[in-house]
Amino acid sequence: MHANKQPTDEEIQRINRLQRDFFSELIHVFDPPLPEGVPERLKKIVASARIAKGDVVLDVGTGTGILVPLIKKYEPDTIFACDLSDVMLAHLQKQYPYAKTIAADIRDLALPDGSIDVVFMNACYPNIVDKGSSFANTSRIMKPGGRMVISHPLGKSFVGLLKQKSPFPLDDFPEESEAEGLLEPYGFDITDFVDEEKLYILVATKRHGG
Ligand SMILES: C[S@@+](CC[C@H](N)C(=O)[O-])C[C@H]1O[C@@H](n2cnc3c(N)ncnc32)[C@H](O)[C@@H]1O
Repeated sequence: MHANKQPTDEEIQRINRLQRDFFSELIHVFDPPLPEGVPERLKKIVASARIAKGDVVLDVGTGTGILVPLIKKYEPDTIFACDLSDVMLAHLQKQYPYAKTIAADIRDLALPDGSIDVVFMNACYPNIVDKGSSFANTSRIMKPGGRMVISHPLGKSFVGLLKQKSPFPLDDFPEESEAEGLLEPYGFDITDFVDEEKLYILVATKRHGG
């Protein structure tokens, strides 16, 4: 749901419960082998964050953690992996014991202010119900100059296909001008934008003093 359509807490809980159950049943879909071209495009997505050695990285809606080993290659200090589904997180933890898993909605994630350098939201933006509170909380926990990467390795039109089968609502990925208006109130500038047939990457950088 878009930031200007504020859902009630009851509605957020209801949709989150649906998602948790849905994704907990679907673990096998996220395990390799991934569709053709996706591994290469995931590498591009992770590269777009310009992770520096020692950074603290958060993967929101991490699922089974397909980004986690790609992030690890950049030698971050810490990788936090957050998801609504503790079943998915348990699966992730077995494969990537070095990741710190947190079962939470990103809007409630209780990490300290200004503690995160890089946030990924891969194939997760359409699923976030309370966009406004989620971006406010993400901005709070990020350091100034930190990068948030919103992405999909099959492009934004893929959401159209998902919508046909999804038991819960999904939002479209924003166009660049829409994204500027959406993220500006939370102190983000759009610093990179890729919108190809099979790749969507939006990099938003947290403003200094924003
Ligand atoms: C389509 S899956 C993508 C998983 C993974 N990022 C990937 O690329 O394979 C979306 C994930 O987002 C999680 N999710 C949805 N809303 C969320 C929220 N508000 N906070 C945290 N995770 C959320 C779901 O539980 C699900 O595991």
